[in-house]
Amino acid sequence: MDQVLIFDTTLRDGEQSPGATLNVEEKVEIAHQLNRLGVDVIEAGFPYSSPGDFEAVSRVAKEVKGPIIAGLAHAHAKAIDACWEAVKHAKRPRVHVFLSSSDVHLMYQLKKNHEEILELATEMVGRAAKHLSDVEFSPMDATRTNREYLYRILESVIDAGATTVNIPDTVGYTTPEEFYDLIKSIFEKVPNIHKATVSIHCHNDLGLSVANSIAAVRAGARQVECTINGIGERAGNASLEEIVMAIRTRNDLYDIATNIDSTQIYKTSRLVSDLTGMSVQPNKAIVGANAFRHESGIHQDGILKNPITYEIMTPTSVGVPKTTLYLGKLSGRHALKDRLEDLGYSLTDEELKKTFQAFKEVADKKKEVTDRDLEALMGEERRTHHETYHLEHVQVACGDHDVPTATVTLKGPDGEVTTDAAVGTGPVDAVYKAINRIVDVPNQLTEFSIKSVTEGIDALGEVTIRVESNDQTYMGRGAHTDIIVASARAYMNALNRLLAARSAEVEKVTVSSG
Ligand code: KIV
Ligand code: ZN
Repeated sequence: MDQVLIFDTTLRDGEQSPGATLNVEEKVEIAHQLNRLGVDVIEAGFPYSSPGDFEAVSRVAKEVKGPIIAGLAHAHAKAIDACWEAVKHAKRPRVHVFLSSSDVHLMYQLKKNHEEILELATEMVGRAAKHLSDVEFSPMDATRTNREYLYRILESVIDAGATTVNIPDTVGYTTPEEFYDLIKSIFEKVPNIHKATVSIHCHNDLGLSVANSIAAVRAGARQVECTINGIGERAGNASLEEIVMAIRTRNDLYDIATNIDSTQIYKTSRLVSDLTGMSVQPNKAIVGANAFRHESGIHQDGILKNPITYEIMTPTSVGVPKTTLYLGKLSGRHALKDRLEDLGYSLTDEELKKTFQAFKEVADKKKEVTDRDLEALMGEERRTHHETYHLEHVQVACGDHDVPTATVTLKGPDGEVTTDAAVGTGPVDAVYKAINRIVDVPNQLTEFSIKSVTEGIDALGEVTIRVESNDQTYMGRGAHTDIIVASARAYMNALNRLLAARSAEVEKVTVSSG
């Protein structure tokens, strides 16, 4: 069976989703999980775009062994050299160069003509090829590019050393029939195309990205660029899990395989959602909360008789945990450890001790602690790893006749414990104001959303917020059975990310100024 390479760009295009910024540690953690998932290529970032991206790409290149580690560079000598510097530690590094090729981009954005762009693309691919043998080139906005011109660019960059040529549908404009025809024509019209792998990269503006990607694979493309949960610029990129499971479930139609271990899909999806703060809609294919739920009586009857009546793939095939028993307040440390291991978490003794304490608190309030609750607790555990300030205690008084008042106690960077209080327009406002009196970092709350992790009035509430400071957005998340505590935790999480980003910047300036 032919193989199609899965090129994951969650850490680059995915991170371009508004408000989805990841720090270096988070990128490395996701990259390790992508490795377990079995992706062939990880595009870890755009090294020239910021010192943080440079560091993330080089950390991934040094630490994640297995997939090809790619960095993105625009067609500029300094960007290409920086990209090489960042990826060169990888066992299998790749530099991915892009340059617009459509008339609209040339005329209104780059203000260059066809010949100038052709020359620049060829020269920059040649420059990258002097550093390494694995070079990818993307003519940006390829699907709105004059076809004859596109063939000429592809031929020229392949001659200059491109080993993969990627055809991006940058603005999500194409359709399956048109894209199939375009990819077929590239194989027919570009004389040296057999020297390169043909890749595709589809955006989802018309909701066609997965269909377009699969049409391109049918036409002969052998690398697909995609992201976990379909996150990415604007309406996002083609979703990795949908492409992989479509190819696998319909292998009667597509005689093609991927190297993906599909049982890692659910865990990867949860991790990316948790770290980016980009929630997965319940009806999302493959990984949404409802993807394997059957509501209608007739469907439930069929499922009980034989799951194939209404299930085209099994939840376990994508790693959705199969719960037969829930944990409760009588469950011990062993039961918790076993269940967490089944869910793919292996904890140190110290982590288990902390998680067990948090589990007991939840189990005291909730009759049944489900897998989703445990995942939320693990998210909480992860978020406390790199804290500058820790929320020790929060208490509010509120009601329709009271002035909402909050008291908070925080443990600071040197272990000092401070308590302060404030009043606000509501309990969350009062809590945030009390925290601000201790952690004095000006910022603006731009987003606040709350959802329950499971059904039932006793469910854990999960709060996701975004704050803005100096034109940067920071996401924060918190979970608790008390939504005011969850809100306080989410705010602490956002502030800790903001403070970590600031101190990383200060470190950089100190190091570079000698
Ligand atoms: O959408 C796009 O064109 C891109 C390129 C950089 C590949 O993301
Ligand atoms: Zn893109």
